[in-house]
Amino acid sequence: DLSVSWLGVNMENPLYNASGVMCRSREELDAVAASAAGALITKSCTLLPREGNPEPRYAKAPHGSINSMGLPNAGYQYYLDYAKAYDHQGGKPLFVSVSGMSLEDNLEMLAAFRDADLPCLVELNLSCPNLPGKPQIGYDFEASSHVLSEVVKVYHKPFGVKLPPYFDPVHFAEMASVLNSFPSLKYVTCINSVGNGLVIDLDSESVVIKPKGGLGGIGGDYVLPTALANVREFYRLLDDKHVIGCGGVKSGREAFMHILAGATAVQVGTCLYEEGAACFARIRDELAALMQQKGYATLADFRGKLKTM
Ligand code: DHB
Repeated sequence: DLSVSWLGVNMENPLYNASGVMCRSREELDAVAASAAGALITKSCTLLPREGNPEPRYAKAPHGSINSMGLPNAGYQYYLDYAKAYDHQGGKPLFVSVSGMSLEDNLEMLAAFRDADLPCLVELNLSCPNLPGKPQIGYDFEASSHVLSEVVKVYHKPFGVKLPPYFDPVHFAEMASVLNSFPSLKYVTCINSVGNGLVIDLDSESVVIKPKGGLGGIGGDYVLPTALANVREFYRLLDDKHVIGCGGVKSGREAFMHILAGATAVQVGTCLYEEGAACFARIRDELAALMQQKGYATLADFRGKLKTM
């Protein structure tokens, strides 16, 4: 039994797409909905539609991926319309990612989602690394606290945030303390890509993506240990909030590790981009086989039960 129920969301299995991958258009969202994924989430949206950064802006790398998409999206109204038309009763859970270019934009979008009163959870993105001149809010604890205090004034339903990766125990503790002061913040998704890495092609002696001189967010195998550390530390430090794992999941093994570290559900980014929606059935079946081999009947039997020495 791979099912998980959290915040009123009932998932047949814990896997879904990482926001950004296969979720910009209705057609892509429908493809995730039609797959073996346990849920789906939309591309981070902005107030107005955006073309995003110049191409090439995603590249496969030897152990993962690099991207600097620049928030190409159809504008929040498109995803709001998708959510309004969505069969919430019969379909799998739908999440909406919101990533405004300013606090004011975020508040306007959240007010619209609030007014629509739909049974879907918001994932507020505090961690887009790819907008030239725009620092990741999640790396500024004071700014994060300010954004969240304004957000909860207009948005009263349970919601979550997508966090960037942290690399220092002091930062885990500081961010956890900020997040713990917001009771309606019910979950965090860890992690966004490891920002502003550089992949170099040795043969051509060149960068592999065009924006920002080749810098971009790193995903895939490169980021698994960082993702697991972030899931583990926020699982330990947050009061009564769920942690959604994201980073380096390409088989049942990494999905199991995220859940062992404390993840309630697990998102798939780079692997979904490279393999397509068929990855969900494969990873689900691998996770089920691994659990059977280890003698676990449910996710709760091992969630968070990482052993330490
Ligand atoms: C983009 C990348 C991200 O990692 C993110 O969180 C939001 C947007 C992008 O480049 O489109």
